[in-house]
Amino acid sequence: MKGTAIITGGAKRLGRDIALDLARLGWDIALHYNQSDHEARDLRQEIIAAGRHCTIYKADLSRMAGVKKLISSVFAASPDCRVLVNNAAVFERADLAGTTEELFDLHMSVNLKAPIFLAQMFAARAGKGCVVNMLDSRVARNVGAYFAYTLSKKALADFTLMAASQLAPDIRVNGVCPGPILPPADQADETFDAIIPKIPMRRKGEADEVVSAVRFLVENDYVTGQFLFVDGGDHLRE
Ligand SMILES: NC(=O)c1ccc[n+]([C@@H]2O[C@H](COP(=O)([O-])OP(=O)(O)OC[C@H]3O[C@@H](n4cnc5c(N)ncnc54)[C@H](OP(=O)(O)O)[C@@H]3O)[C@@H](O)[C@H]2O)c1
Repeated sequence: MKGTAIITGGAKRLGRDIALDLARLGWDIALHYNQSDHEARDLRQEIIAAGRHCTIYKADLSRMAGVKKLISSVFAASPDCRVLVNNAAVFERADLAGTTEELFDLHMSVNLKAPIFLAQMFAARAGKGCVVNMLDSRVARNVGAYFAYTLSKKALADFTLMAASQLAPDIRVNGVCPGPILPPADQADETFDAIIPKIPMRRKGEADEVVSAVRFLVENDYVTGQFLFVDGGDHLRE
């Protein structure tokens, strides 16, 4: 018996693939979502069909009330929770000049404050386990088109290192830094494809390549404070 893994924003896209992979590895799943009710219910059925337990939890992680409710509900139902994947995020395009206070606060609350306090409360309750923070290959560079998003992920990367140091030896904390994997729902494929020639590996990444990085960090018990860039070398460009 491995225990339960929480995946935030797990109903769709990369979170869905991570949840399914951890279920296939033998983890029961605490599947968090916010607006994707149908997708969460469908995935719950799929995980149950694969032979694992799955409970779905709706919470708005832009509010501390949602963060606290999620952790207390998960641990009330699954005291064996040992993995937290901080995957939920907002990703809105705006450079520094175009960043409103509202947009800044939204990115900082969902992409930074929520993962920090989820990790803090998870560590206090789980006792032993690991946290995987979904970062972005942009943390290695200073591109400006997604200013608040990039700043939130850079701060989450630093948190990953600080938490790894403070929570060892009981809780490991690592990060995965995907490059271009899935275009955002509101972005034209051409915009996404225009990046490809600039990537050292000359292709976009596959969801499976991100999933296997999460799997490695969950399974390897001697790795903490580490970032895995799954970005075809994108963090190397100027
Ligand atoms: N896709 C990529 O190519 C890529 C590249 C680099 C980094 N990443 C990172 O990898 C992770 C997964 O990427 P993705 O593209 O699959 O993510 P995504 O689709 O942009 O977002 C994942 C989920 O976050 C949840 N979310 C957003 N706002 C929320 C809120 N206020 N409260 C609670 N949940 C909220 C949404 O859940 P609901 O749908 O249930 O509302 C959404 O489905 C993210 O952290 C992202 O920054 C992705």
